[in-house]
Amino acid sequence: MKNTLIAPSVLAADFANLQRDIEMINSSDADWFHVDIMDGVFVPNISFGMPVLEAIARHAKKTIDVHLMIVNPDQYIKTFAQLGANNLTVHYEVCTHLHRTLQAIKAEGMKAGVAINPHTNVSLLEDVINDIDLVCLMSVNPGFGGQSFIEKTYDKIKQLKEIITRNGASTLIEIDGGVTDKNAIQLVQAGADVLVAGNYVFRAADPVATVAGLKKLASF
Ligand code: DX5
Ligand code: ZN
Repeated sequence: MKNTLIAPSVLAADFANLQRDIEMINSSDADWFHVDIMDGVFVPNISFGMPVLEAIARHAKKTIDVHLMIVNPDQYIKTFAQLGANNLTVHYEVCTHLHRTLQAIKAEGMKAGVAINPHTNVSLLEDVINDIDLVCLMSVNPGFGGQSFIEKTYDKIKQLKEIITRNGASTLIEIDGGVTDKNAIQLVQAGADVLVAGNYVFRAADPVATVAGLKKLASF
């Protein structure tokens, strides 16, 4: 049986009750905290930054999976490591020297992730696939939670899985945006290893039960 990882996106939490929501994820079947950092330049939205991540890290008892939607991520790699990020994901579209960036992330003791926008072809990652711990396939345009899932993502997962297998890599495939119980099974069948879910979890009447249900549905 496959252990699909569930990563609730803190972007959809209630920031006035952040500690409560962090403890809720701690007590759930979730595997990772997905933390979206947006700079208002790479994406048309600003989420939160270092002090909030620091506060999250003080309470989180699970892997902290940081998704940087910022330009010039290289200048903050050390800082994110110090703040407690376990996985650090940068966007392909902003990295001129992606190979160098990946090595710099690993040198700080973090897992190195690369996120790609819906328009970016997965084949562009082939030459560095063995250096990537995690590919975050965006299944919405980055910038906002609560958007609808882009169906083309299934093909992209399959193509990426082929690249990973062909190169003997152990890269995880993470799907980010519009994940619900309606698409979870098909995503895992296509090759997804990690499902990020924001609104689906935090807007649910019972988020803990919703995480448990998603985990069960996606692990088969
Ligand atoms: C979008 C973020 C996602 C988002 C997912 O830019 O990267 O992680 O929080 O939220 P939902 O699951 O609501 O689409
Ligand atoms: Zn994200």
